[in-house]
Amino acid sequence: MATVKFDRVFKVYANGQTAIKDLSLEIADGEFLVFVGPSGCGKSTALRMLAGLEDISAGKILIDDRVVNDQTPQQRNIAMVFQNYALYPHMTVRQNLEFPLRMIKLSKKQIDVLVREAADKLGLVELLDRKPKQLSGGQRQRVAMGRAIVRDPAVFLMDEPLSNLDAKMRSQIRLEITTLQQRMQTTTVYVTHDQVEAMTMGDRVAVMRSGKLQQVSSPQDLYDYPANIFVAGFIGSPAMNIFRTRLSKDESGTFFIDFGEKNLVIESATSQRYQQLERYLGLVILAGFRPEAFTVAAAQTDNSITVEVKTVEALGHEMII
Ligand SMILES: Nc1ncnc2c1ncn2[C@@H]1O[C@H](COP(=O)(O)OP(=O)(O)OP(=O)(O)O)[C@@H](O)[C@H]1O
Ligand SMILES: [Mg+2]
Repeated sequence: MATVKFDRVFKVYANGQTAIKDLSLEIADGEFLVFVGPSGCGKSTALRMLAGLEDISAGKILIDDRVVNDQTPQQRNIAMVFQNYALYPHMTVRQNLEFPLRMIKLSKKQIDVLVREAADKLGLVELLDRKPKQLSGGQRQRVAMGRAIVRDPAVFLMDEPLSNLDAKMRSQIRLEITTLQQRMQTTTVYVTHDQVEAMTMGDRVAVMRSGKLQQVSSPQDLYDYPANIFVAGFIGSPAMNIFRTRLSKDESGTFFIDFGEKNLVIESATSQRYQQLERYLGLVILAGFRPEAFTVAAAQTDNSITVEVKTVEALGHEMII
């Protein structure tokens, strides 16, 4: 069990590339925190600095209130699972699970007990004598997780562990990881570029862009109260519709925006929540609609609009128009 803290952390690679800019973030004991963002935004760099696999250019990283900047990965007592499972191909599942325990020189008896426990937790008991090439992708991923949890690390780090799996396996293992994490209550930092994974797995989600932390919040908060246009467009699938418009107010004090041939009324509940709207009167603003906020109108109303349907994607339980 452990807390994690990034305190004004920067990472500048040797070639001058700044990958992390001024990252401050506290992760609670037992929390499942997800870093999400587009390719190249610095997610893996943040994780690798926490793991001790990359130097920290400036700032501090703390585990359990101890600065770990100068500690080796072993001293930090963390376990990491990567996208490519990196199992030892010539070893059986059992030997792969034993390996990290041999490294810390436990007795044969202790090792047997711990391997048995990890294999039980992850449903690997029947597979202990197989080699990695005799396993499916999902089973291999489970062995990789087993090897990470077997020595009961203080922090569990995962970098895109599901991206080599097919869609069905991905959602299955996603559930296995969250269930396991809830059972073990080990502080976990998880990296993905997939916002659905981030939203479904994280207690909180840290959205990154170009090395900068954009917002860190619960999944529902990110969806309901995105801190900026980037988060608004990144979280949600299909993505929010964002467009330029103008904000006005009529004599009765109702706010509305230009929308083609119509003025769309902003409900008073919404305008009351955003007191700062007044400041944007008459200005060009960006407005966003989530696709799922639209409904098909039975008849013309003040807030109905007429659209031309260009494409329809039928997904069975819903249609994307
Ligand atoms: N060893 C390195 N030397 C120089 N630049 C690097 C190095 N590793 C990563 N970078 C750069 O740092 C930035 C962040 O890379 P990082 O791997 O952290 O991104 P990421 O968010 O994990 O992306 P992805 O989703 O593609 O894995 C990128 O611009 C990348 O090109
Ligand atoms: Mg990465």
